[in-house]
Amino acid sequence: MKQERGHFRSKIGVILATAGSAVGLGNIWRFPYMTGHDGGAAFIFLYIICVLLLGVPGMVAEFVVGRHTSANAAKAYRKISGGGGWSVIGYMGVFTSMVILGFYAVVAGWCLEYFFASVAGNVVGYPGGAGEAFRAFSTNSYLPMVFTVAFILLTHAVVTRGVRKGIERASNLLMPLLFILLLVLLVASCMLPGASAGIRFLFKPDFSQLSSGVMLDALGQAFFSLSLGTACLCTYASYFSRQTNLARSASQIAGIDTLVAILAGLIIFPAAFSVGVNPDSGPSLIFITLPEVFCKAFGGVPVVEYVVAVLFYALMVLAALTSTISMHEIGTSFFSEELGLPRGRGAWLETGICAVIGIFCALSSGAVPELRLFGLSLMECCDFLTSNILLPFGSFLTCLLVGWVVPRRVVEDEFTNWHTLRGGLFGVWLFVIRFVCPVCIAAVFLHQLRVI
Ligand code: TRP
Repeated sequence: MKQERGHFRSKIGVILATAGSAVGLGNIWRFPYMTGHDGGAAFIFLYIICVLLLGVPGMVAEFVVGRHTSANAAKAYRKISGGGGWSVIGYMGVFTSMVILGFYAVVAGWCLEYFFASVAGNVVGYPGGAGEAFRAFSTNSYLPMVFTVAFILLTHAVVTRGVRKGIERASNLLMPLLFILLLVLLVASCMLPGASAGIRFLFKPDFSQLSSGVMLDALGQAFFSLSLGTACLCTYASYFSRQTNLARSASQIAGIDTLVAILAGLIIFPAAFSVGVNPDSGPSLIFITLPEVFCKAFGGVPVVEYVVAVLFYALMVLAALTSTISMHEIGTSFFSEELGLPRGRGAWLETGICAVIGIFCALSSGAVPELRLFGLSLMECCDFLTSNILLPFGSFLTCLLVGWVVPRRVVEDEFTNWHTLRGGLFGVWLFVIRFVCPVCIAAVFLHQLRVI
């Protein structure tokens, strides 16, 4: 059955929906925990370089592929390269996004559980502290699995309602609200006693901390946070109109995304230092730090604590949802258009596969810690393999394809909207995706492998 492809309705809709994909747990959960793990300001410095130098140009390259072809991930790469081996980027993207959705839904499920717990008034003041509350929940034998699957089903429900109604409306409404709440929490957290140590940790770099591992982490975090390297942006760009300014959209989205990550850091670290939570506590960092902020920062007024906690977890769930929608959309459009299935069936196939991956990840980070690979829990392993290896590799190949294989005329038309925009930066951008991006990504990999 041939179905008409949807389009985003307005300019701001494009930015907000794509920023909705980019802003998510990657900013609020993963960025602080990687920053804590990799020593603070020096990591942030590298991260910002990766976003500016590799992220934004890489995003534009993916946009070019998506808008030029208006097709699902696999078809887009097949079409723009004229067949041949390059279509593997699209298939790789579909695979990567399914694995990411699997483990991402576990963390999103934790947020969902915290949301219900906060509504019931149980997040603040758990006996034994927030760390104990988190441990009790995440090691429960079935609850994390239930919430993981519930989150994937929620995503499924939004995706099957179509591009415009589901994605656009949700993003338009929620992004500004999230931003305001982050600002409130930032002020509250920075006013805690001893918060300045956290601010120093974030902004005073100690470059002796840098290692090849930290470089790879910064690269992976930049790509993860921008939703880059899985054909996710390519799939979204397939819904862009001919008027969308690709370079400007990419810069705006990267700007919003980085701002939210830094805000999240400014909430978590002052609070973590103030209440004595180790910044290196890993994936559970925000789940043990924030409840302490809620109960210490609002002057012990229970109503305020309650409202802030409920609002915060509601917005976390929604921020995660706008990101999971974008991952789900990659597989859904792939299965429905490539296998000729109705969209609904394609969506179920994606949901089923991701739910299985999610269940195993949920078990490995809680009830069945024996589920390990290469010395990491299955969940950490999926995260490392996708974020630090497959995403940069996907983007590396996309840059080579757009820079060297696709006819320059096609690329220039997309970059300048058929010469209706000033194309002054085209030459610079082309140079970056031809040389700078591939060389830098390859250098980080080779350095990690101790070759250079
Ligand atoms: N960028 C999102 C976040 O920061 C996660 C995400 C959405 C993603 N779609 C993606 C990551 C595609 C990699 C690929 O939370």
